[in-house]
Amino acid sequence: MKIREANSFDKIPVLKFCKDTFSWGDYVDKVWSSWLEEGNLFLFEKQFPVGICHAFYSENQIWIEGIRIDPNFRREKIGSKLVTHAELIGKKTNALFSYMLIDTENTPSISMANSLNYELFEIWNFYSLIPKINSDHKIEFAKSVPSNLFPYYVNSWRWFSTNEKILSDLCLKNKVIKSSLDGKISVAIVGDYKHHEKTLIVTLFSGSFETLSNIISYLQNYAIEKNYERIQILTKEKLSSFDSLEYKISFNLMKKTLI
Ligand SMILES: CC(C)(COP(=O)(O)OP(=O)(O)OC[C@H]1O[C@@H](n2cnc3c(N)ncnc32)[C@H](O)[C@@H]1OP(=O)(O)O)[C@@H](O)C(=O)NCCC(=O)NCCS
Repeated sequence: MKIREANSFDKIPVLKFCKDTFSWGDYVDKVWSSWLEEGNLFLFEKQFPVGICHAFYSENQIWIEGIRIDPNFRREKIGSKLVTHAELIGKKTNALFSYMLIDTENTPSISMANSLNYELFEIWNFYSLIPKINSDHKIEFAKSVPSNLFPYYVNSWRWFSTNEKILSDLCLKNKVIKSSLDGKISVAIVGDYKHHEKTLIVTLFSGSFETLSNIISYLQNYAIEKNYERIQILTKEKLSSFDSLEYKISFNLMKKTLI
């Protein structure tokens, strides 16, 4: 029994237990090569692979994702050992915080995270939006963003804490759009999903129906123009109903302080 880095030969045995993980299937097959390339794709091996977990290290944080344990080997602390392994590596490079994102209804995973001293930090809602030609929108590219609106933003389904520099770089790249009306404001940070092409990922702050409506129309049209097939919106707010906007699920953003 050991934990090691996964390699390309592990793909077939690993994907065998990462097919029907959730009611809708799984996404590990789509991200496998890109996680291998990034490194830190940890694999728990008995005589054969029985569990995986991927970690992404940046600045002072660890992002833990893709914990999958073969159903025949659950409740043997394999998931816990993989996460602890990922944390130990991060601690060596002075990571201060570790995060994971868990579907609010995934009780086993939330229990495991709690048992490893992760706490519920924030709840985020996931909406999908269908691209559509839509010329009726009034937005501007933000030149600055109050950092209290976005202490975190989502990049390729990973949450990163922001600071003035990160936000102003995003503004400079025209990645931050805003709509303001009657003293109310909605703001969106847009980006690509590195591991799944043609997917636009949006971190959204919604301040009013009208301003959100502008942002939504803009995003739909932008996606058509840039050939995106899907728009995925992550927001802390519960959004009003809009045509083509569908609420999917909510996630617990779990956080652990490592020191
Ligand atoms: C969630 C998952 C990763 C847990 O892996 P695991 O190796 O079975 O978990 P562990 O044995 O390390 O569990 C540690 C603790 O977590 C809690 N826990 C784990 N699974 C649980 C379950 N099904 N029900 C209740 N508590 C559970 C328990 O407190 C457990 O300690 P205990 O067995 O001494 O009571 C595994 O069930 C899995 O692969 N699920 C499908 C994929 C998934 O949901 N991944 C996480 C996405 S965020």
